[in-house]
Amino acid sequence: MTSKIRIGALISGTGSNLQAIIDACEKGAVAGRVEFIGSDNPNAAGLEKGKRHGISTFSVDYGAVIRAYYNDRAHAAVPADFDLDEIRSKQTLFSVDDEVDPDKVAAFLTSRAIAEARLLKEMIAHPFELLVLAGFMRTLTPYFIDRVNTTKDEPRIMNIHPALLPSFPGIDGYGDTFRYGCKVAGCTVHFIDYGEDSGPIIGQRAFPIQFDDTLETVREKGLAQEWELYPECIHLFAQGRLKTVKVDYESRGGMKAERTVVRILPPGKES
Ligand code: GRF
Repeated sequence: MTSKIRIGALISGTGSNLQAIIDACEKGAVAGRVEFIGSDNPNAAGLEKGKRHGISTFSVDYGAVIRAYYNDRAHAAVPADFDLDEIRSKQTLFSVDDEVDPDKVAAFLTSRAIAEARLLKEMIAHPFELLVLAGFMRTLTPYFIDRVNTTKDEPRIMNIHPALLPSFPGIDGYGDTFRYGCKVAGCTVHFIDYGEDSGPIIGQRAFPIQFDDTLETVREKGLAQEWELYPECIHLFAQGRLKTVKVDYESRGGMKAERTVVRILPPGKES
């Protein structure tokens, strides 16, 4: 029998995915229990959902942290173990080709790491095996990711994205899919890496976009899929059936490249 894993959740808003995860844990469809819910937004409605289930909650007001940083950089509470060069070289959110002002990149990474250090401080009180991002609308930098993913090749931060990745990364997956005129929409659960919605894919659900669909109905249909897919993927993790492996491939230009992908082990072959 699979023993229960401890799950931490980060949210920003409504928390309907969080609710689906809590419900799946309570009815035994996920071998886990939610230990804490953190938010970048003190007013996130999802925090109340957690409280109703007796789950510890906390928030770090990202908006206030970021404003304070930009108002007075000289006195910013930059964590002592923050190494800008290291974080900048690891992250793949901004590439040199994007020609983003290096000072803006440095300010972005530093301000986020200040907020992340505060999240990590809150999380220390709640040990966990898996961290799920359930509508957490902030980009996590390598500063945070490396302090959670402490075992090599065993990622443990999952995200749900409202599009069929690698198409339409970013904040408005259903909107981007719909406006593009796609005939199929969907959602993706993946482990996060140092880029934007670019980490190894665990599970996906797709559904057709019909003639009379609107963005609203696509969103509704998508969310209903998310509420099933996310718990399923979390349960696979709890069962020890998600294995990340590195595969070599040749890119279109003939360049050799390596990619980390998730293999879903059959039942009974858990690692
Ligand atoms: C979901 O569509 C999720 O895919 C995206 O943000 C939305 C969050 O919804 N990242 P909720 O807060 O879980 O209701």
